[in-house]
Amino acid sequence: MEQLFLGVIGGGAMGSALLRRWVNSGVCPPDQIGLREPDLGRARALQEELGIRLLSDPAQAGEARVLFLAVKPQVFTTVAAEMGQPTSPELVISIMAGIPLEQLQQAFPKQVVVRTMPNTPALVGAGMTAISYGAGITPTQVEQVEKLFRAVGEVVTVAESQMDAVTALSGSGPGYVAVMVEALIDGGVRVGLPRPLATQLALQTLAGTTALLQQEQLHPALLKDRVTSPGGTTIAGIDALEQAGVRGALMQAVQAAYERSCQLTSGATALPKRGG
Ligand SMILES: NC(=O)c1ccc[n+]([C@@H]2O[C@H](COP(=O)([O-])OP(=O)(O)OC[C@H]3O[C@@H](n4cnc5c(N)ncnc54)[C@H](OP(=O)(O)O)[C@@H]3O)[C@@H](O)[C@H]2O)c1
Repeated sequence: MEQLFLGVIGGGAMGSALLRRWVNSGVCPPDQIGLREPDLGRARALQEELGIRLLSDPAQAGEARVLFLAVKPQVFTTVAAEMGQPTSPELVISIMAGIPLEQLQQAFPKQVVVRTMPNTPALVGAGMTAISYGAGITPTQVEQVEKLFRAVGEVVTVAESQMDAVTALSGSGPGYVAVMVEALIDGGVRVGLPRPLATQLALQTLAGTTALLQQEQLHPALLKDRVTSPGGTTIAGIDALEQAGVRGALMQAVQAAYERSCQLTSGATALPKRGG
């Protein structure tokens, strides 16, 4: 078999989302992608949908030019052991949370390694991926990696020391936003709107506000000032938010997620006491 461009290990939620975008946006031809996924039903469905190749063992993924690791961090050691130390790939790209570049490099000493942190909106092409490059990366390889992740949204390069903070903000962020959207919907229902209508209003308000902030490169405080007329409805709502400590709660959410990410990165899997 001719050497594949991409050997992907793990076709779960994130792996399959990436595969779909790569194939559907033409970033990588399907016959250049091999997938190793133990769930045969899932693997065959992806093969049928996308026309990618299925690999019967992880070592075959290690024969591709780029090895892409999309398994849970807990199975990384097993996967690395199953692969041995492949010589073919030039690059090993990981999306595994909490696996440092150093550990990737130890498992794949002959390759340039790359650690990334995408987020769930990648499933709809609106992701945010932070990337940290290992030693020896070339500009061409940076371009290759960015191309893969630009297919599912925006891309930023960060120092690896920032990865726990990135995890706490953009990695966990979709969870915070989902809670906020749910609360806005409940608020709408509370003041008499049918739930489907409240849902549409909440979702489009969030999407529209974010688009406005991004497209006009507007500071959030300026937008808030623009929409608060003296004695009006919005300032009354904001007063309620401030009294409930919403800003502090969101900052604390990021801080708590950061601390948890640091614990997990350092290998501490035990759940900490609440508030401790
Ligand atoms: N989902 C996100 O939003 C997100 C965001 C950022 C980073 N990540 C990272 O992305 C990685 C994957 O997350 P996910 O949400 O896509 O998880 P997932 O849905 O559980 O996908 C992992 C896939 O890997 C497969 N797998 C397990 N052992 C394997 C092995 N030995 N060889 C090959 N494949 C194997 C699993 O198959 P089985 O189900 O049969 O075990 C599953 O299909 C994680 O490391 C996570 O930290 C995810």
